[in-house]
Amino acid sequence: MRVLVVGGGGREHALVHSFVESGLGPQVFCAPGNAGIAAEADCVPIGADDVAALLDFAAKERPDLTVVGPEAPLVAGLADLFRERGLRVFGPDADAARIEGSKLFAKEVMGEAGAPTGGYSRHTTLESALAALARHERYPVVIKADGLAAGKGVIIAQDEAEARAAVEDMLVRKTFGEAGNVVLIEEYLTGSEVSLLVLCDGEVAVPLAPAQDYKRIFAGDQGPNTGGMGSYCPVPGFEQKAIDGAMDRVVEPVLAVLRRRGIAYRGVLYAGLIVSADGARVLEFNCRFGDPETQAVLPRLRSDLLELCDAAARGELAGATPAWTPQACVTVVLASAGYPASSHKGDVIEGLDEAAAMDGVTVYHAGTAFAGHVADGGATAGGAAAGSGDRAAGPGGAAAGPGAAGRDIVTAGGRVLAVSALGDGFARARERAYEAVARIRFDGMQYRPDIAARAVRAEAGEISLFPAS
Ligand code: GLY
Repeated sequence: MRVLVVGGGGREHALVHSFVESGLGPQVFCAPGNAGIAAEADCVPIGADDVAALLDFAAKERPDLTVVGPEAPLVAGLADLFRERGLRVFGPDADAARIEGSKLFAKEVMGEAGAPTGGYSRHTTLESALAALARHERYPVVIKADGLAAGKGVIIAQDEAEARAAVEDMLVRKTFGEAGNVVLIEEYLTGSEVSLLVLCDGEVAVPLAPAQDYKRIFAGDQGPNTGGMGSYCPVPGFEQKAIDGAMDRVVEPVLAVLRRRGIAYRGVLYAGLIVSADGARVLEFNCRFGDPETQAVLPRLRSDLLELCDAAARGELAGATPAWTPQACVTVVLASAGYPASSHKGDVIEGLDEAAAMDGVTVYHAGTAFAGHVADGGATAGGAAAGSGDRAAGPGGAAAGPGAAGRDIVTAGGRVLAVSALGDGFARARERAYEAVARIRFDGMQYRPDIAARAVRAEAGEISLFPAS
């Protein structure tokens, strides 16, 4: 079987790593991949957003399955074009990907589905947005650009002045371009967040184990938002009953509304939930696997991920019941100097092999490249590997160390690595993850020291992550 994975981050490395372990014995291509992915797959120097070049590649190579990591190519219609050419894809068509590509569309679908979410108003003019803010009584308030804004289009405004500045930025200064043509002013929801990734085949929806991520850069949830600085799986206190509740009240009704609108959702639906004493409400939907949630979820999966994704793409998920190790998984993201405001490229990474050699540890690469291949102004675009077939024959599987291909591996983006560790319980998984992190070094390396600390305390019964319902 031939599989094409689109993307080049930690999430895609986790997908590739699971796919190469599949009993289906696949040949895996990844576009563009990164220095770690190059140890496991044939990296193809095509950017994840270059839909035309990806289509050309797929038309020539005829992969049996294409799995799309990031949202942008899905929103741009990659899956539609592939399906029109008779290529099997795991990933929603553009009309289904609007669940992430348009925050307003997501709210309208949730409204029709009766899925609980925060209240909101929509605005296309500054006058209307400022009038709504003048009436608004409770702060903070969330200001969202309707469209995709590279993960940056959500502002949590602490007071009216901040909120006014945010809507002016979006509607007048066009900070997020067309993505900010429509602005949502949303209720700020508080509670404990859960990421539920759900495999969907157009009819059947199968949830994976829940995870939690850490969005802020600094310990104690301080500092600016990032793409995600760590995660863990499962989530103590969010057990089968809670998963079933989220499926019944959120995921199934939303998929039913989409079907009524003639939209078959095939791929992964990421439900970002926030759980408070009032129950679970939807914070956001994404049309793709979470990053870094995927890096904490997949190490626990005992079923064949490739078989599951292929079944979803074929519309044959009925009866699938993913099996899980009872072990916990903790994922710590290592970021480069300056992240999230900027990133630092070209810093040599040491200790990858030592970390990856640890029992139960997997080192997923995100913004990495081989020395001398760091793209100017881009994280990994095309720089990870010289081309199709450029597979570094590295020991240790997940992490190709400097000695593996005789080339140094260097930083090439903001989030550089995701270090995942399994353990019997969160305390052991966390200990292992940080032991592995301690073996890795690069200039300016930053990471949060408190990933999964709350899960350890919750598991020990010292705290509860969720209010009693
Ligand atoms: N970890 C958040 C996301 O994938 O959007």
